[in-house]
Amino acid sequence: MDIKRYFEEKKEIVESGLEKYFPRRPESMGPGAFPTTLYKAIWHSLFAGGKRIRPILSMAAYEAVGGKGDGILPFACALEMIHTYSLIHDDLPAMDDDDYRRGKPTCHKVFGEAAGILAGDALLTEAFRLITNQTIREISNHNAELILNVIHEVAQAAGILGMVGGQMLDIESEGKEVDFPTLQYIHSRKTGALILVSVRVGARLGGANKEALEALTRYGEGVGLVFQIADDILNVEGEAAQLGKKTGSDLFRRKATFPSLLGMEDSRRRAEELVEMSVNAIRSLGPEAEPLREIARFALSRKY
Ligand code: IPE
Ligand code: IPE
Ligand code: MG
Ligand code: MG
Repeated sequence: MDIKRYFEEKKEIVESGLEKYFPRRPESMGPGAFPTTLYKAIWHSLFAGGKRIRPILSMAAYEAVGGKGDGILPFACALEMIHTYSLIHDDLPAMDDDDYRRGKPTCHKVFGEAAGILAGDALLTEAFRLITNQTIREISNHNAELILNVIHEVAQAAGILGMVGGQMLDIESEGKEVDFPTLQYIHSRKTGALILVSVRVGARLGGANKEALEALTRYGEGVGLVFQIADDILNVEGEAAQLGKKTGSDLFRRKATFPSLLGMEDSRRRAEELVEMSVNAIRSLGPEAEPLREIARFALSRKY
């Protein structure tokens, strides 16, 4: 299959879904609805050209199990909003202190730290506003209990047990010797949790049975970890211009990464094994899951 074309098609759907929620002209949403600086800061980061991998994963998982229509779209957009918030905060001076993201100056560089913090807060909160609003409208198509469980799962993946918990450990591990299980724990939470939940949200809303959900969970765990190993590798040998962000910063900040612990070759080997494991996990799913298989390969082969 033509994965590039698939990405382009899905990306366009995500972009227009996000633009519907955050229109170009916020005035149309009513006076005072959006303090201008806050809105501009959100727009700057949200529409800076991210790959949209998490929403695309949720849509691919939805379709792989027979999900039809666009009921997944608000969830897909919410996942991207949560992800973008995590990037804005990740780049703050108190965190990774990065100046470039998605090929542009970081949110706080343009709008200041307060606006960066608040843009992140707003994106996280608006994400839940979007999917709870969806709950009310889509209740006839989806079972309310399922939707509530899915929203709970998204919150869990974003919170202490997931992304934020992983980010704290990532920061606390700077300059320290961490063992391999700790490193895996950090990666599978700071990055893996949101990727895994993207797959699971798509699968659950698409009507996956127990076996398919289990298979997709193993797939999502594998791809989530691969995605961060690739991020670590690209931080060492990627092209900053293509990545849209600085390289070499992990070494500078003495971050706990796969290359720092295992070396380049072993990191790549480990990631290749995980790609294979992920693809194998969903072998029972048939041709509808082909995009998911391609995404697993892309998670490692990517250059950006
Ligand atoms: C970067 O995520 C940060 C990680 C969690 C590894 P992406 O590589 O998905 O970044 P964008 O969304 O395409 O900018
Ligand atoms: C990103 O981790 C994880 C989150 C933003 C939750 P990194 O700090 O390793 O990612 P980049 O390299 O800045 O994108
Ligand atoms: Mg970080
Ligand atoms: Mg960072």
